[in-house]
Amino acid sequence: MPSKPSNMKSYEEEVKTFSWDISKKELEYKDGDIINIGWYCSDRICEKGKAEKLALIWESSKGEEKRYTFNDLRLITNTMASYLKNLGVNQGDRVCLFMDKIPELYMGFLGVLKLGAIAQPLFSAFGSESLLTRLEDATTTAIMTQKKHLPKVRNILEKMPYLKYIIVVDDDGSKALREREFALNIETEPKIEKFDCFPSTAETKSVLHYTSGTTGKPKGAQHVHYSLISQYITAKYVLDLQEDDVYWCTADPGWVTGTSYGIIGVWANGVTQCVTDIGFTADNWYKFAEKNKVTVWYSAPTAIRSLMKEGTAAVKKHDLSSLRHLASVGEPLNAEAVIWSQEAFGMMFHDTFWQTETGSIMVSNYPGMKIKPGSMGKPFPGITATVLDLKTSEPITKKGIVGMIAFQPNWPSIIRTYWNNEEIYKSKFKNGWYLSGDRASIDEEGYYWFVGRDDDVINTAGHLVGPFEIESALLEHPAVAESAVVGKPDPVNMEVVKAFIALKPGYDQNKMLELEIMNFVRKKLSALAMPQEIEFVDSLPKTRSGKIMRRVLRAKEWGEEIGDISTLENDM
Ligand code: WT7
Repeated sequence: MPSKPSNMKSYEEEVKTFSWDISKKELEYKDGDIINIGWYCSDRICEKGKAEKLALIWESSKGEEKRYTFNDLRLITNTMASYLKNLGVNQGDRVCLFMDKIPELYMGFLGVLKLGAIAQPLFSAFGSESLLTRLEDATTTAIMTQKKHLPKVRNILEKMPYLKYIIVVDDDGSKALREREFALNIETEPKIEKFDCFPSTAETKSVLHYTSGTTGKPKGAQHVHYSLISQYITAKYVLDLQEDDVYWCTADPGWVTGTSYGIIGVWANGVTQCVTDIGFTADNWYKFAEKNKVTVWYSAPTAIRSLMKEGTAAVKKHDLSSLRHLASVGEPLNAEAVIWSQEAFGMMFHDTFWQTETGSIMVSNYPGMKIKPGSMGKPFPGITATVLDLKTSEPITKKGIVGMIAFQPNWPSIIRTYWNNEEIYKSKFKNGWYLSGDRASIDEEGYYWFVGRDDDVINTAGHLVGPFEIESALLEHPAVAESAVVGKPDPVNMEVVKAFIALKPGYDQNKMLELEIMNFVRKKLSALAMPQEIEFVDSLPKTRSGKIMRRVLRAKEWGEEIGDISTLENDM
């Protein structure tokens, strides 16, 4: 239960007094200084007297456990940086991290940064084609991977003349390595006590995260070492990371949450975290949290809704009394899920909103601040946010009107460009604002209410209806397990609402139920929001990170190209 005072004393006070200088001061960084994320996350924590503190508790799906202190982190990241340097990897080279959630991924990421090279983490479930698209775009010099993923790299090797080094982190000599392949074992490699980190400064490139857009190939979001200033202080104030916490971030570092808050934010704060690549079941997850006495948990709505499906009884079988703060990111967190978490864990999930491009949390619910379930909360202090009129791109001053969420582009961790794609990068700005591509409204008290992606909002008879709102309502119907709502072409109203629904076990799909659900929504929301059609499906198309891909469903309705679905988890 939340018992200790939070790092952020009062949101209102913080908004008045906050400046990024607070973060810089705590990090003992002055403009113009050297700033290397790799050093900040390991060496500096050791210098602060926490060398023997646990940095990482890791548990594999097979139950194997490993523990690393901050001194281990320092030595191993030194060793990895030095190994890459000796191979011939240079500052500025792109080094892809293509691994499951194993310790080498976390350490390798920091090692690459210590060397001054650019870390390019990619989700290890990617197949060869997805890998190739992204390595090609970045002309990646080296890839660090595991034996099990080697075939996917070998498949496309001849198409990648620029890829000079394939570093296998779990080679045991059982399989002959080929040309361009090198073995690195962090357990046996002699540890490097001292490595001179690359003297990166604020604008030195750090991380390249590939993110799928609505159209075209994935874009490489380019971050710099200065992002630390945002990531450190948001981890401290929003995730409320404190000295004796055991933090658990369920995100994979192939995606930005897994690096900004699964590596950088947590370790720059000198906090212990636990990681597992154990598969998702409610029981597995609760066991893991119980065993490691997790205190702060950062997860995602789909996971929370999946837990919810298993019910409160599954929670009560475990002792989760260590938990004191819960947060969520990535997609809309339904009011129902927030309310359920209060019932199940005795505290609410705090929704946080941000993007690959923002590098850090932008709009959020804060410990201590009143939560309005279903709202994303308020802008982080130091962030100037607004919603822009969808036609004029001018800030909307009237409350409750839907516009595009936009930010003044002056926070430390905003991307500096898209790799090789300055044009699309530039198109993200208008009238001096960074355009999020998401729509929301702001209420009388300054809370942000998410409506949908700019391209997902349904315009029916000239009225905007948010799929999120309808999906939330649908979820409240006892028969509905999951739903996705898209606009369907209609000759009179331009678009009408169509819902795809997966039913809970024990419910049969039939006309009666369809009508009942339609009426349920009509009553809850409005006739406009009522689905004109319901299609029952076994499951919904999701990205591997768990986001429902509405656009796949929408494209089908509109007879359009589906676009890049390389991150699609299940086929329809
Ligand atoms: C998009 C960014 C950075 C976190 C991981 C996703 C959606 C993110 C929320 C939220 C509603 C959300 C937006 C955003 N999104 N957080 N709390 N409520 N929607 O990073 O893959 O770059 O996706 O995820 O549509 O633009 P990403």
